[in-house]
Amino acid sequence: MSQNEVDRSKRRFLIAATTAVGGVAAVVTVIPFVASMLPSQRAKAGGAPVEVDISKIEPGMILNVEWRGKPVWIVNRTKDMLDLLSKHDDKLVDPKSEMMQQPEYAKNATRSIKPEFLVAVGVCTHLGCSPTFRKEVGAADLGADWPGGFFCPCHGSKFDLAARVFQGVPAPTNLVIPPHKYLSDSRILIGDDSKGA
Ligand code: FES
Repeated sequence: MSQNEVDRSKRRFLIAATTAVGGVAAVVTVIPFVASMLPSQRAKAGGAPVEVDISKIEPGMILNVEWRGKPVWIVNRTKDMLDLLSKHDDKLVDPKSEMMQQPEYAKNATRSIKPEFLVAVGVCTHLGCSPTFRKEVGAADLGADWPGGFFCPCHGSKFDLAARVFQGVPAPTNLVIPPHKYLSDSRILIGDDSKGA
């Protein structure tokens, strides 16, 4: 067999092997997806409210859930985190949340119903990327005066731990606070804030 024939048959074998692996991957990924599209999940994807157990979120940690196909963050803010919120109003675009980015009950100093829990839609108000949770105060890449918050690496927008946008970044407004309510001390409902439901 010539060297060319050897190369050709090697190539044919590699193409066949790649196709087989691709076929297996497709089967493996499709089955869980179909199985996961049960009626309740389909309803959620269509916008149904999402109930979340917040009792397991340690202080200082974040839980990421999905509502209407978007990430929604729930952050359990510590007292230190809350204390920092009032110290940089002069660097924010909308420190008092005057713009309509939150329900009336979240138009307050912490942009929340209970001070410790921030509930925010994790979609940057610039071009829709999802920012990263950066709680480290004074993080080296974000500046010595960084008070902790969210950083959108797409184009550099910065938000504090009340999801308020800093001045001088591309994002024009604070992140959105979705409608939500407490069903109990440990459960919240995202996407529904009607009374008595
Ligand atoms: S999408 Fe976040 S900074 Fe551009």
